[in-house]
Amino acid sequence: MKPGLRFWQRALQALRFLGPEGTRRALLYALLRDSWNRKEPAPKSPWRPVGPPQAVAAIPGGGRFLFPEGELEAVFLEGGLRLTWTPGRLPPPYAIEKAPALLEPEREGEGGRFVLRAGGLRLEVGPEGLLFLDERGRVWRREALPERQGEAWRHRVDLAPGERLHGLGGVAAPLDRRGRAYRLWNRDVGGSYGPEEGPLYLTLPLLLSRKPGGGYLVFYENPYEASLDLRGEAALVAFAGGALRYYLFPGKPQEALAAYTALTGRPPLPPRFALGLHFARWGLRTEEEVREVVEGFFAHDLPLSALHLDIDYMDGHRVFTVDRGRFPHLEGLVRDLEGRGVRTVLILDPGVKAEAGFPPFESGLREGVFCTLPGGRLLKAPVWPGWCAFPDFTSPKARAWWGERCGELLALGVQGFWLDMNEPAAFAAWGDPTLPKPTRHALEGQEGDHREAHNLYGLLMARATHEALRARGVARPFLFSRSGWAGLARYAWNWTGDVESSWEALRRTVGIVLGLGLSGVPYTGSDIGGFSGHPSPELFLRWFQAAAFMPFFRLHSAISTPRREPWRFGEPVLSILRNFARLRQALIPYLYTLAWEAREKGYPLVRPLFFLDPEGEAEDAFLLGDALLVAPVVEEGVRHRLVPLPRGLWYDFWSHRLVEGPGEVFAEAPLERIPLFVRAGAALPLAEGEGLVLHLYPGPEGRAEGVLYWDEGDGEGPSRLDRFLLEGGRLLWQGEGAYPWPWEGLGLRLHGARLKGGRVGDAFYPVQDGLLRLPPFLEAFLEVEG
Ligand code: GLC
Repeated sequence: MKPGLRFWQRALQALRFLGPEGTRRALLYALLRDSWNRKEPAPKSPWRPVGPPQAVAAIPGGGRFLFPEGELEAVFLEGGLRLTWTPGRLPPPYAIEKAPALLEPEREGEGGRFVLRAGGLRLEVGPEGLLFLDERGRVWRREALPERQGEAWRHRVDLAPGERLHGLGGVAAPLDRRGRAYRLWNRDVGGSYGPEEGPLYLTLPLLLSRKPGGGYLVFYENPYEASLDLRGEAALVAFAGGALRYYLFPGKPQEALAAYTALTGRPPLPPRFALGLHFARWGLRTEEEVREVVEGFFAHDLPLSALHLDIDYMDGHRVFTVDRGRFPHLEGLVRDLEGRGVRTVLILDPGVKAEAGFPPFESGLREGVFCTLPGGRLLKAPVWPGWCAFPDFTSPKARAWWGERCGELLALGVQGFWLDMNEPAAFAAWGDPTLPKPTRHALEGQEGDHREAHNLYGLLMARATHEALRARGVARPFLFSRSGWAGLARYAWNWTGDVESSWEALRRTVGIVLGLGLSGVPYTGSDIGGFSGHPSPELFLRWFQAAAFMPFFRLHSAISTPRREPWRFGEPVLSILRNFARLRQALIPYLYTLAWEAREKGYPLVRPLFFLDPEGEAEDAFLLGDALLVAPVVEEGVRHRLVPLPRGLWYDFWSHRLVEGPGEVFAEAPLERIPLFVRAGAALPLAEGEGLVLHLYPGPEGRAEGVLYWDEGDGEGPSRLDRFLLEGGRLLWQGEGAYPWPWEGLGLRLHGARLKGGRVGDAFYPVQDGLLRLPPFLEAFLEVEG
């Protein structure tokens, strides 16, 4: 769409969402914000190089290097390095869960060149810049000495030909970030975004480099607004303030991500219900409407795991209220739904209506938890309920206050919270839709402004909510947050926000989910069918099929759009959706095992093909774990597609046909199917009826291997881990952990050959309808026909 048209479309949409009064506030706020921002002097001085290194002093783990215009501390860590250029502020360590152990390097130095060496890595600091080498003397990163301008820092990092860069969080851009420039500043796009868009809600300064001979991950622990110009042969990375601190982890993407997530925290196990199908709809205005929708799911035999209530449940859109006129028995509703296996999740917005007599506002004022302007005046900005005050989540006091309020809502019996508008968003008729830059923040007593705290706001709202729930006995809080920063995975899931309903947006969504996973945000998903707009039945269906293989499987849509419950699309769409909702249910043992793996290793659930094959560049196909390859259909009218296959043998999930990669295979994709392949050599645990069925997809030597993690599904009780290994007809089952095997024996389905039966000890068990049921065993022998 032409930019001009897009502007008008957005303006109209804003008017529709905000109404005339809201629009008036958005105009006024934009004026006020601009006048506050103008009080911030923009630096005008030229960029100044730090100059050549002059001296080095030993510090634990590394060295402190002196330059005419700055100082560099470089330390060696288990698996990487940390560099810190000052002067400049260091943020409170919000992103960091566990500081890695320091390694003691060997130090050499002469004639203005200094060398540090530890853990197989080598750093050379000289007048022309910094060189990072591996054990074999190969350079894996080369950067120029940085420059300063007022409080800002920037530096240039060489890019190799063919080097690919991923990361940066939620960005509507190709998965390889090279060739473009980016601004990292979390942003509410205001109701709708398409395939090309500036920064989205959750950005973070992390780049994952892949190049021949190795790559690395760099995470800049700097929350200030950043700009990254990746268009040339060097990356130009600039931060508007703060010390230039970065962590470097060399290695393949898996190794680098494992190291990064060890630093910033791995995602805890979600409650198992979170892996099922969620339903949300902005505009479910009454309890009756909610009940009707849930009934619809039951009546149409669609498995529903959670029901989300959008701002409609609130009284006048005020956070921490319930409109008792429209939701008179919310507690009863929550209880009834739970009785039927459906969890209730409530949306929370950070803005608290600034209204005299409104208890959360009054108590927040009394306790001094809201953000202020310089001079101490309360900062107000308009959001859904009108003019709001904003809790300063960078203050422990504000987080505790917020936690109290969440505790009150927990008493309704709800099982999770949806954290929205936490970029933080403010309705502004033009310009930056957030708080003014001079807004004051506590930053754990360090005191600072919004330039430093902005990108941290969503992360800290999630932290406050997570900690409150944990403190109130919720072992695995289910939260998902629109915004965030490095470290979010410790507290919350994410979703990709207000994506438009279009084929282009669906295509891009696959890449956005992959990009977030490579940025350390493993649990994410999109509003199925797109948030804004009216998807055709075909677009909705294809979106649903793709989403069934993504971590967060959620239906959601904007108030202004026609209703989208699956049955509204009629047949054959409804039946196909049902099959995919059931397939999702079947996948839960596999997904839950991937959740365990994410906790153990930090790998995302949805992975790019290059996790299995260094050449795998596709971004319209993805791996779910290391056993499934999903190739969504992202074009209208398409009934087949080419699927890029990584090296090795693969089974077509639907036809069981064996195909070989690397290369592209042609796959049928009638509306009933999404091209789906299983890696030969995998053993896939799937739920079937009341049982657990291990699907064996033997590789070339008749080998298949798989793991299953299981526990109660919530809480912190015992768990179990079962490993299965098929080799030449002999199937070994090794279980560990105190949680008892909860199924009756084990079901087996063998793919690629016809199974006759299986032997456990002296007993023979015949196959029935392709399914072999065996009692628990340590060793079983499978017999195939022919
Ligand atoms: C924002 C959210 C959207 C929600 C709406 C109303 O636009 O991104 O998911 O429905 O606000 O709360």
